[in-house]
Amino acid sequence: MVERRTERTRREFMKAAVAIGGASALSACTERLGGGPDVPEGDLSAVPERQHAWNEVLERDQHGNVVAPRHHVAALFDLTHDGPPTESDRTQVGEALDGLNRAYEWSNEGLLVTAGYSPYYFERFDADLSDSVDLPKPEALSPFEDPALDDPDLVVHLASDHAPVVLEAEEALVGNREQANGVEMAASFDGVLERRERRTGFIGAGLPAENQDVEGIPDGDPVPEDAPLYMGFKSGFEKNQASEERVTIQEGPFADGTTQHLSKIRLRLDDWYGEQDHDTRVAEMFCPAHAESGKVEGTGESLGDDSGMSDCPAPEESARDYGRVGHSQKMATNAREDDSPIILRRDFDSTDGGEAGLHFLAVHREISDFVETREAMNGEDLTENPAVRQRVNNGILEYTFVRRRGNYLLPPTSKRALPDPQ
Ligand code: HEM
Repeated sequence: MVERRTERTRREFMKAAVAIGGASALSACTERLGGGPDVPEGDLSAVPERQHAWNEVLERDQHGNVVAPRHHVAALFDLTHDGPPTESDRTQVGEALDGLNRAYEWSNEGLLVTAGYSPYYFERFDADLSDSVDLPKPEALSPFEDPALDDPDLVVHLASDHAPVVLEAEEALVGNREQANGVEMAASFDGVLERRERRTGFIGAGLPAENQDVEGIPDGDPVPEDAPLYMGFKSGFEKNQASEERVTIQEGPFADGTTQHLSKIRLRLDDWYGEQDHDTRVAEMFCPAHAESGKVEGTGESLGDDSGMSDCPAPEESARDYGRVGHSQKMATNAREDDSPIILRRDFDSTDGGEAGLHFLAVHREISDFVETREAMNGEDLTENPAVRQRVNNGILEYTFVRRRGNYLLPPTSKRALPDPQ
């Protein structure tokens, strides 16, 4: 029991350190671990050309579902000067990113990293972005949201099972330390790119429960001990994710790249936990038929590798028969191809700003794949049934509030350093 509590405090501490960031958080982290985790060194040649090719090196659970790395940082950067980047900027940024890959093994035990560029970055050039890439500026994607639209040049996503790794990698990238994992960094972003914002988070059994003392989660520790996400259920089942191949750009100068949407969603789970029981939560997250059949036990481990959407009736039918429609059920209707979603979700929870939130990070071949998926989630047509309102009885819309949106292009690894649009 004492051991469990110690382990719990240790993990809470690690998460808090990532959220705080910086050199002091990092040294507190390593001190706590008595020297830091034993992290395997990297090898640049082991990094795949597809920056988003993570699944092969990630662990799988007993059902074959990919297990996401536990700690995440998304750091947003701007070029320090106007106009397009110079050759020397490019070399420096390339060396900094290569440095991280040399320092840490390309895996959840080491570090997974992607660099993505916004449509605003590409406006710095005279040439237009290649026709083979769909990269519109972000916009509101439902009539009931008013998000801030993110316009940094670049977002770097760092992910690892070890909190000190994401912290140290970020510090090395911005130039606050010369070594990463004991390996000398040849360069940092310093002088070329300025960090304007950092977003942090976590996903995985235990972490949400340990970090539920934030705005948006009611008192009484309602988040289940073993839940990987604040809302209490597993997500990202193998059969309910797009494949990495499906989300990869197939042709043109950015072939082997992908596009990424990153939104920030605030969670308000007072009613989710205060007014609903397990069955109503299952009905709204999955579908009312799943609640009726008892298919979803606990966090959803009982589902194996498939959320079982073929056992849910069409959303309109659920609206008519149950007065309620599930999130997953809505998502599994339109925005699909070959019986699979067209976006690959890599979202994580967050306590940024002292509020429960979710950084919804997803990759897809085209931004329009995300837009189409989000339209399915809006469920606007379902309100034809008077029991279903725009945000009530309509999946999880009642509890989720989109605050920010941004769109990015993740070039292939060989072009990840300040790419030219053509
Ligand atoms: C707090 C926010 C969210 C939570 C907790 C959440 C959770 C879940 C869960 C538990 C499932 C069912 C299990 C699975 O298939 O992995 C699911 C499915 C899904 N969600 Fe979400 N989700 C959230 C937001 C979103 C957003 C913003 C989108 C995209 C617009 C999205 C897209 C999807 C898709 C595409 C599926 C799979 C549906 C299919 O099988 O075709 N989710 N989500």
